[in-house]
Amino acid sequence: MGKILHYFGAGPAALPFEVKQRIQKDIIEYEDSKLSILELSHRSEYFSNILDRSKTLLRELYAIPDNYQILFMAGGATLQFDAVPLNFSGKAKYASYLDTGFWSRKAGKLAKKYLDVKFVAGLIDHANEICCLSSSEWQVDAQSAYLHVTPNETINGVEFVGVGNVEVPVVADLTSCMLMQNIDVSKFGVLYAATQKSLGIAGLSVVIIRNDLLGGASQITPDLLRYDLHVENNSIVNTIPVFACYVAMLMLLWVKEQGGISVMVEQAKLRSKLLYDAVDSNSKLINNICKKNRSTINVAFTSNYQGVVTGLLDTAEKEGLIGLQGHRRAGGVRASMYNGTSIDAAKKLARLIRLA
Ligand SMILES: Cc1ncc(COP(=O)(O)O)c(C=O)c1O
Repeated sequence: MGKILHYFGAGPAALPFEVKQRIQKDIIEYEDSKLSILELSHRSEYFSNILDRSKTLLRELYAIPDNYQILFMAGGATLQFDAVPLNFSGKAKYASYLDTGFWSRKAGKLAKKYLDVKFVAGLIDHANEICCLSSSEWQVDAQSAYLHVTPNETINGVEFVGVGNVEVPVVADLTSCMLMQNIDVSKFGVLYAATQKSLGIAGLSVVIIRNDLLGGASQITPDLLRYDLHVENNSIVNTIPVFACYVAMLMLLWVKEQGGISVMVEQAKLRSKLLYDAVDSNSKLINNICKKNRSTINVAFTSNYQGVVTGLLDTAEKEGLIGLQGHRRAGGVRASMYNGTSIDAAKKLARLIRLA
C-alpha cells in the first residue's frame, strides 16, 4: 500500500481506516452469502438486515422517537432540495428558508418551483464578523408549511446547533454535520443528509421524518422522491444503492464503537480548535466568522498576502495533507474534518498553518 495521506476533502470525504479494511474484505464475500457486497440483491435477507441494522443504530445514536420514520433514498442532498418541497406542496403554499449561506440559498431557490419561498435572515454582520442570529431572532411566518435550516454551511464554515422552539415544523439539511452535532430530533419535523461526508459514500441520502408530516406530497412528485412511498416499501421502491447503504451501516457501527455522537462532537471540537488557534495566531490569515459560529467541521480561511494560500497548499501537499483547496466559489483554504479525520491529521495541519 502507498503512503497514507491525510485527506481533508469536503465530500466524498475521508473514511476511517477500519471501515475501508472491512469494505475490502466484504468486496470479496459478504458474510456467508457467497457474493460480493457489490453483487448483493436489494431484495435479499442480507440487505434487509443491513437496512434494519442501520435504522436501529441511527435510532439509538440520536435517540430518535418512535413517531419518526427513517428512510434511505437514492441521490444526494440536491435531490432532497426538490424532495422536501414536493412532499409538502400537495397541501401547503408557503415555506420559509433560513438564509445562512450558499447551501441554504440553493435549497430555497430550488423549492421556488413548487412553493412560495420566504427567505428568513439567519446571519448578521457584527463588528466585521459574520454571526448567526439566534433562533429567537428568526422572523418565521407562522403560515409556513416548514422552516428549512442548514446547521452547518460547508463552504464558509458557519455552524449553529439547535433550533429552540420554532412554531412551524423545522426541516434540517444535516449533510455536513450528520452524526457530528448533538441534536434533539424531537425539535425537528424532517432531517436529511447525503451520506458522502460523515455517513459513508456518495449516492444516498438518509431522511428522518415525523409521521404526521407524511402524506402531503403533490401529484407531480416522482415516486422515487415520495417519502410516504418509501415508508410503505421500507425504502425499497426500486433498486436502491446497496453498496452506499452498506457503507452507511459500517459508519454507524463505527460511530457507536467510538462511543457515540458526543464523542464525535468532542473530537470535532478538538480538531477544529487546533486549527482555529493556529489561524488566529498567524496575522497573515483571516477567518471572519464569529467564534460561537465557527464550524467545528469545515474550517475555512484565507489571506490578503500574496502567495500565502498557495504556499500553504503546496507545503501541505508535500507533507501528505491533501484536499485543502477552498470551495471554487470561496477560494482560500478549507479543511473539512468529518468523523474519519484523525486528531493527528489536524495537529499536522495546525503546525503548517502557524508557519504559513
Ligand atoms: C450542507 C450541504 N447541503 C447540500 C449539499 C449538496 O450535496 P449533494 O452533492 O449530495 O447534492 C452539500 C454538498 O457539499 C452540502 O454541504
